[in-house]
Amino acid sequence: MTAAPHRGDAYGEMPRVLVIGRFTEDLPAEWSSAKRIWDEARVFFGAHGLDESESHALATTASELVENAIKYGDWARAPHEPISVLLDASPRAATVEVESPAVDNPVLLRQLDDRIQWIRGFQSPFEAYVERLKQLASLGYADGVSGLGLIRIAYEARCLLDFYVTPSRQLAMSAVYQPDGFY
Ligand SMILES: Nc1ncnc2c1ncn2[C@@H]1O[C@H](COP(=O)(O)OP(=O)(O)OP(=O)(O)O)[C@@H](O)[C@H]1O
Ligand SMILES: [Mg+2]
Repeated sequence: MTAAPHRGDAYGEMPRVLVIGRFTEDLPAEWSSAKRIWDEARVFFGAHGLDESESHALATTASELVENAIKYGDWARAPHEPISVLLDASPRAATVEVESPAVDNPVLLRQLDDRIQWIRGFQSPFEAYVERLKQLASLGYADGVSGLGLIRIAYEARCLLDFYVTPSRQLAMSAVYQPDGFY
């Protein structure tokens, strides 16, 4: 799936303006939460000015970030914490932010940082996607980890990824989409 083409830049049209809005929700660390946020994000972004393809891509982004929160959150340390999700629409950007208990291990946080920097290091996220597929082909999916989720957020949903750790040791992952593009 590819997102809608840029509008309002190269063709001299007015830039698109999204409808301002915000949706927050605390979800349990269960797989059903990923499906739930997919449905809610699709409706939210569709109602705030994104087209069907963009809303679908951002719903998949929200679902992927919730899945990662379940897989990589430190639920042993904070078993009763929820996954906190923020969906935000401002005039020029749509944001998905997902918070979960941060792992204490700096090596794992470095891995996440490295992956995000690696994706950004390519001229286009499509190249990162192709490169990762090549890596997987040569590894033969040996370790059972595809490592495609964040790359697909960058490539298919055209989002800029980032993360930070809050003072209360929550890891906040964000994906920001600007309909008129970053590049
Ligand atoms: N919320 C998180 N907390 C800590 N590390 C994370 C988090 N999300 C992702 N990571 C790290 O970033 C790596 C890449 O994540 P990504 O979603 O691209 O791949 P994956 O979840 O391993 O596989 P896939 O999404 O393709 O099933 C993960 O393997 C993990 O090391
Ligand atoms: Mg993933």
